[in-house]
Amino acid sequence: MLPYGRQWIDEDDIAAVRAVLRSDYLTTGPAIEALETALVEATGATCAVACCNGTAALHLVAMALGVDRQWEVFVPAITFAASAASFVHAGATPVFVDVSPQDGLLSLPSLEQALGSSTAPHKLIVAVHLAGKSLPMCEIAALATRFGAVVVEDACHALGGIDPEGNRVGNCVYSQAAVFSFHPVKHIAAGEGGAITTNDARLAAEMKKLRHHSIVRDGFSHPQLAASAAGNPFPWYHEFDAPGFNYRISDIHAALATSQLTKLKRFVERRREIAAHYLDYLEPIAGIECAYTRSEIPRHAFHLAPVRFAFSCDGERARLMRALHERGIGTQVHYIPVPVQPCYAQGKSIADLQALFPHAWSYYRQCLSLPLYYGLSDGDIRYVCDAVIEVFANEKSSHQDGASKSVCSP
Ligand SMILES: Cc1ncc(COP(=O)(O)O)c(C=O)c1O
Repeated sequence: MLPYGRQWIDEDDIAAVRAVLRSDYLTTGPAIEALETALVEATGATCAVACCNGTAALHLVAMALGVDRQWEVFVPAITFAASAASFVHAGATPVFVDVSPQDGLLSLPSLEQALGSSTAPHKLIVAVHLAGKSLPMCEIAALATRFGAVVVEDACHALGGIDPEGNRVGNCVYSQAAVFSFHPVKHIAAGEGGAITTNDARLAAEMKKLRHHSIVRDGFSHPQLAASAAGNPFPWYHEFDAPGFNYRISDIHAALATSQLTKLKRFVERRREIAAHYLDYLEPIAGIECAYTRSEIPRHAFHLAPVRFAFSCDGERARLMRALHERGIGTQVHYIPVPVQPCYAQGKSIADLQALFPHAWSYYRQCLSLPLYYGLSDGDIRYVCDAVIEVFANEKSSHQDGASKSVCSP
């Protein structure tokens, strides 16, 4: 089976994990700081905070920024649900924003309109680098300044990517923080893992505290409980200054992530090569278009290889997915528009939601992610493309022959 994404583990990764298993610390040990140091080096930000996954990372940012009921968060309609949910958990109201119909990324004119219509006292833009393509962060920062909004990058797809101005994703030149995921389908695998990078040392310290139950060990509210009358500190004393979380990453996961990070450049280069091959094979085919251009490849991080198909209906896409699966090829749809999800739809009809997010809808209707991971060989790519082209052509010809409802049923 060629899945749409998977990890690549070398012997040195296994050795790194084995070393932790033989050490004194399985968690709260030195491997976590080592990962944070490596992330600072990889992104160019001044601080990094590692945690147990990307969803927790987004939630830590929300809590550390003080997001609450007074905030609106502006989230692209095409993204993973966690881009919105982590801020909703902090009390914010999500405002979904339409996307570009070509690549599914946040549409800046739609964002400008949404920010201009907001009366919320606090606003936060979740800049999602969908599939690994960086948004134009300089332009987003300019909008944020104009409307008094904070910018957080959801860079879970974009480790190793570069923004249109040549800045490394995660260096936070134009944002308060950037968030990463180390799930096995992402660029580097930790099993489960995530991190935040930021240039704000105070924010980083707050997130480190929150990920560990919000425990404080100095500056106490009850100094009389913390030390004797003579001023000798009691060694056991600590306080919780907020209801915190256990969002720690273990040393086992952190060591794997750090080992993987040493190979990030190689991993991303191969992903770019694969994406270029897909373009070579699929560009000439009518009705099939990659959701990226050749000129974008050198700065794209390619978590996904999204392709747009001129499907006549969802049934056609379902049959293509099934036929590819039968040939051992895994594909996936990234994503069903988030505002359609029952927890956000608030009783709106599908027709209303389509009218509110027309470009998200058209992107969703066409997109399919093809296999993309470091271990995919040139032969695998050819096999995938031959299958895609053949099955899609069969679909189109049977549609033309039948042109009936049954052809369009799943
Ligand atoms: C855009 C985006 N944000 C956030 C997340 C959450 O990351 P995690 O799965 O590590 O919690 C994901 C996961 O796929 C994602 O795709």
